[in-house]
Amino acid sequence: MFKIDLKNSAIFLIVLYIVMVGFFYNFYQHLVIKDAKQEVVNVLNTTKAIRKYVENIQKPVIYDLEKRGELYKEFFDPRILSSTFIVNTIHQMLTNSKKLNNQIPYKFKLAATNPRNPINKANNFEKEILDKFRKKEIKEFSTTLKENGESYFYVAVPIERNQKSCMKCHSTPEVAPKELVQMYGNKAGFGEKVGDLRAMISLKVPISHIVSTHIRDFLITIFIALIFFIIFYILLYTIYNKNQKLQAKRDLLLLNQNKLASMGEMIGNIAHQWKQPLAQLSLILVNMELSHERGKLSQDKLKEKINEANKQISYMADTIDDFRNFFSSGKPKERYNIKDVIELTQKLLSVRLDKNKIKINIEILEDFYLVGYPNEMVQALVNILNNANDIFLERGINNPQITIRTYTENFKKIIVIEDNAGGIKVTPKEKIFEPYFTTKQAKNGTGIGLYMTKMIVEKNNNGDIGVKNLDNGTAFVIIF
Ligand SMILES: Nc1ncnc2c1ncn2[C@@H]1O[C@H](COP(=O)(O)OP(=O)(O)OP(=O)(O)O)[C@@H](O)[C@H]1O
Ligand SMILES: [Mg+2]
Repeated sequence: MFKIDLKNSAIFLIVLYIVMVGFFYNFYQHLVIKDAKQEVVNVLNTTKAIRKYVENIQKPVIYDLEKRGELYKEFFDPRILSSTFIVNTIHQMLTNSKKLNNQIPYKFKLAATNPRNPINKANNFEKEILDKFRKKEIKEFSTTLKENGESYFYVAVPIERNQKSCMKCHSTPEVAPKELVQMYGNKAGFGEKVGDLRAMISLKVPISHIVSTHIRDFLITIFIALIFFIIFYILLYTIYNKNQKLQAKRDLLLLNQNKLASMGEMIGNIAHQWKQPLAQLSLILVNMELSHERGKLSQDKLKEKINEANKQISYMADTIDDFRNFFSSGKPKERYNIKDVIELTQKLLSVRLDKNKIKINIEILEDFYLVGYPNEMVQALVNILNNANDIFLERGINNPQITIRTYTENFKKIIVIEDNAGGIKVTPKEKIFEPYFTTKQAKNGTGIGLYMTKMIVEKNNNGDIGVKNLDNGTAFVIIF
C-alpha cells in the first residue's frame, strides 16, 4: 500500500505552484514582448511612411506653390514642412489618445547626431545604434533596458536616407528659407549630403506596463492553476483519510486476531490451572462421603472440609478473574505499575513455559507506573515471550532462560526482555516488526505478534521498541 505524507505533499505542491507562477510570469512577459515588438515595428514603419509622404508629396506641392509665386519665397513653417516636427506632433497626439483609452503609451523619439531641434539630439546609446545603421550592420534594433529601476522594451529603425528634397533645408543656411534660419539659427541641422543617414526613430515602452495590461490573462492562468492544485490536494487528502481508516480497521482486526490466538492458549491455561484444584475438590468430596458412610462426619469435620473446598473454589475463581481481565475491553485508562503487568504475563504463560522448562527471571530494579490499558501491555509482553518460547523449541536450546528487567534511566522508563535463544537471523532485524513477517510458515505463524507489540508500545503508549542481538540471544528494549 502506498503511503501519503500530507505535510510533505503540501510543501511540494506549494513549491511547485510558486515555480509555476514564476514560469507563467516569464512566459507571459515573453509572449507579450513578442507581440509588443511586432506592434512597435508596425508603428515605426507607419511613422516612416508619414515622413516619406511629407518628403515626397507634401513638400513638392509647397515648393511648387512657391515657384509659381502663390507662396512667398522665404516661407517656412515646420507644421507643414518639417517631417520631424509633424511626426513628433502626431506621436504626441497618439500618446494622448492612448492614455485616454488606458492603452500603453509609447515614448517616441527621433534621434539625430546633427539635429536642428536640440530635443532630437542623440545620446551616446542612440549614437552607437545610429552608427550601426549608418554602416548598414543592422536594419532594426530592439532590446530590453533598465532605466531608473524600470525595465523598458526598446525598438529603433533608421529614417529614410537624405534625398534631394532634404537639401533645401539641410545643406547650407544660404539656400534654406529665411524663416527657417530665423527660427532655428544658421548652425544646427546643416551640412547634410544626399544619401547620408540623418536620424533614426525609436519607441520605448515600459515592460511592467505591457505586462500589467495583460495581467488579467496571467491572473486567470495562475488562479486556474491554484484551483487545480487545491483540487489535487483535496483528492490526496481524501485518499489519505481513506487509507488511514482502512489501516485503523486492519489494525483493529489484527488486534482481535492476536487476542483470539492468545485466547485459545488462555483456555488451555485455565484448564491446566484448574486441574489440581478440581482433583482436590473431588478428593474432598470422596473423603466426606467415606467419613459419612463410616458415621464419622462430625459437625467440625464437615466445616473443615467445606472450608477446604471453598479455598480451592476461590483459587479457581481467581484464575478465571486473571484471564477475564485480560480479555475485557471498553475499560477506561488507568494508572498501573509495570511489576503487576509482568507478573500477570508470567502467570498467563506459566503453564506453557513450565512445560518447556523455560526459566523466567524477573528483575524489577525499579518499579514504575504507566497510564493506559494494562491488558494491552500484557498482550505486548505475551507476544514477545511467546516468540522466545517458539524459538527455544525450534532451535532446541538447552537451559532456556528469559530475563525481564525494568529500571529507569534519564527519566526514561525501560523494560528489557532478553532470551538466550541465539538471536534474530533476519536482516535488517527491524523486519520482524512488520505485519505478516514470519519465519514460521510451517507452523502457521501469522507474523502479527511483534507488529501488534510495536503498535501497542508506539502508537497507543507513545513508547519506543527496539531489538538487538546479544552474544547468545535477543534483547527487546521498550522505552517510555
Ligand atoms: N526472540 C526471538 N529470537 C529470534 N527470532 C525472533 C524472536 N522473536 C521474533 N523472532 C522472529 O520474528 C518473526 C516475527 O515474529 P512475530 O511474533 O511478529 O510473528 P510470528 O511469531 O512468526 O507469528 P505469530 O506471532 O503470529 O505466531 C518470527 O517469525 C521470528 O523469525
Ligand atoms: Mg510471534
